[in-house]
Amino acid sequence: MAFLGIKITFNIDMKLKHLMIAFTLLCISIKGFAQVDSIKIIKAGRLLDVEKGTVLTNQLILIDHDTIKAIGPNINIPAGAKIIDLTNATVLPGLIDCHTHLTQNPGGNYYDDLFRKTPIDFAIIAHIYAKRTLDAGFTTCRDVGSTAFMDIALRNAINNGDIPGPRICAATFFIGSTGSHGDINGFSPYLQFNDSKQFRGVADGIDEVRAQVRFNIKYGADVIKFGASAGVLSEEESVGAPQYTQEEMNAIVDEAKLWGKKACAHAHGTLAIKMAVKAGVASIEHGSLLDDEAIQLMKEHGTYLDADIYNDDYILSEYAKFGTPQKIIEKEKLVGKAQRLSFQKAVKAGVKITFGTDAGVYPHGLNARQFKYMVKFGLSPMQAIQAATINAADLLGWKNKVGSITPGKFADIIAVKNDPLTDITTLEQVPFVMKGGVVYKNEGK
Ligand code: ARG
Repeated sequence: MAFLGIKITFNIDMKLKHLMIAFTLLCISIKGFAQVDSIKIIKAGRLLDVEKGTVLTNQLILIDHDTIKAIGPNINIPAGAKIIDLTNATVLPGLIDCHTHLTQNPGGNYYDDLFRKTPIDFAIIAHIYAKRTLDAGFTTCRDVGSTAFMDIALRNAINNGDIPGPRICAATFFIGSTGSHGDINGFSPYLQFNDSKQFRGVADGIDEVRAQVRFNIKYGADVIKFGASAGVLSEEESVGAPQYTQEEMNAIVDEAKLWGKKACAHAHGTLAIKMAVKAGVASIEHGSLLDDEAIQLMKEHGTYLDADIYNDDYILSEYAKFGTPQKIIEKEKLVGKAQRLSFQKAVKAGVKITFGTDAGVYPHGLNARQFKYMVKFGLSPMQAIQAATINAADLLGWKNKVGSITPGKFADIIAVKNDPLTDITTLEQVPFVMKGGVVYKNEGK
């Protein structure tokens, strides 16, 4: 037995020793593998420097894990680095859409979307919209209105690496007054919903709007969005009338600031735009009916215009088929053209412009269709790209992490085949997408 005992001990010792050696070798190889795989070099034939507004040629971009480390024509290529050859492409920073609704999509029937679906119906497919958006080259979105904290769940799942999608700066509930664009209108007062006002983002008066801002932030909002004016795709009569008092708007922006957050305002109407700008919002969403004074105020306050000027095409061609009330279509006819002219005037006057599409009102993944209109109505192609990169990053307060190909920022990089500065529609097909150093799409391979 004793002999057997020794033998057994010896065998265990030997096995342990072998195991330990094997484990050490495994660790070394995993470490080596991780190092090799995490260092990448992009060879960029043409590269847009969106900060300077210039084009560079034959640049190398060194990426370590999720971060850009260096850039230049002659940087050292570390041994074992993975080379990504984009010498025949134009390389630019991942695009940013400052106005999306990733947890909604035109579903094909107005009343089904309003009454026959629950947030779970939307939540269960939202990851598909996130992926489509990323595949379209949009590596960051400011998502400005969602219910049931779906946007927070989506943002977190993407950040955890559970599902692919853009980085999300989330607003949670759109904050609106009773009967506003954020409420459900046009139906019998006996049609009631079980959720509380706070779970619908409906808030009236200074105390309630402040409480709603706190509620949104408590459960994860990165930014605050409220309805300064009426809307198009909702059944209230006016599209432009203010839906909060000046005091309520001031309170929303002030409360957001206390918590270190920016606010943005849905605003089509002239007076509502001016009120929201005076309240101190970071951006005006839609900005459809601008007059000279509104433009002047936006310039003075440094307020961004985030106008969804592609939307009109899709709504007018498709929404009647979805059973959308004629009243809404008529409102769109009124606003669509005026909005593009307002945008043109604002660009001419030098208002700061960002890129925001309202994707979700039209199908996700088609975000880049808006570039053509931004160029048609006054921006140069480089300015339109800056609106969707460096300006957008500035609006989000994320300039230190996204918006340009700069050492220290996330490696959010896309590439297109042709030159977007000569044909902006090139951005509608993005064959290469990297986010945080991970290649999600490379059709050029
Ligand atoms: N969410 C906006 C609203 O309902 C969409 C406006 C669409 N129309 C437009 N021309 N941008 O008010």
